[in-house]
Amino acid sequence: MPCITWNKSLSVDHPFLDRDHQALLDYVNVLHDELIRDEGRDLILKAFDELIQFTRAHFKREEAEMQLIGYADYELHKHEHDYLLEQILVLENKFNAGTVTLAVQVTLFLRDWLVNHIAILDKEFAKALAQREVA
Ligand SMILES: [Fe+2]
Repeated sequence: MPCITWNKSLSVDHPFLDRDHQALLDYVNVLHDELIRDEGRDLILKAFDELIQFTRAHFKREEAEMQLIGYADYELHKHEHDYLLEQILVLENKFNAGTVTLAVQVTLFLRDWLVNHIAILDKEFAKALAQREVA
């Protein structure tokens, strides 16, 4: 069962951002499923790595767009991106060290963070991006 499903309230009304966010949630769901199925460390670590790679690429895409339009809140937004990436790496390390007691803690943290980030910061950024594209 997915830990998070896409719905309209998560849309930022921007096709490239929405597509990326949907894919990001898919990666979180895959990791969530692997943690719950618990059928091998390799499968879980692979899901972690794929999520990390996609998250990095997605954040880079967003940040490149922000720089292109001279986005005023770039620093704050990038700071949040850096924080999440750091947290995912911390969780992966904890998992590796066997100190994550509840596997779902991992994906619940990611889910809550992502939903908040998309609903607040990404929506603001998407608005600025859309205005710029119209102008
Ligand atoms: Fe973002």
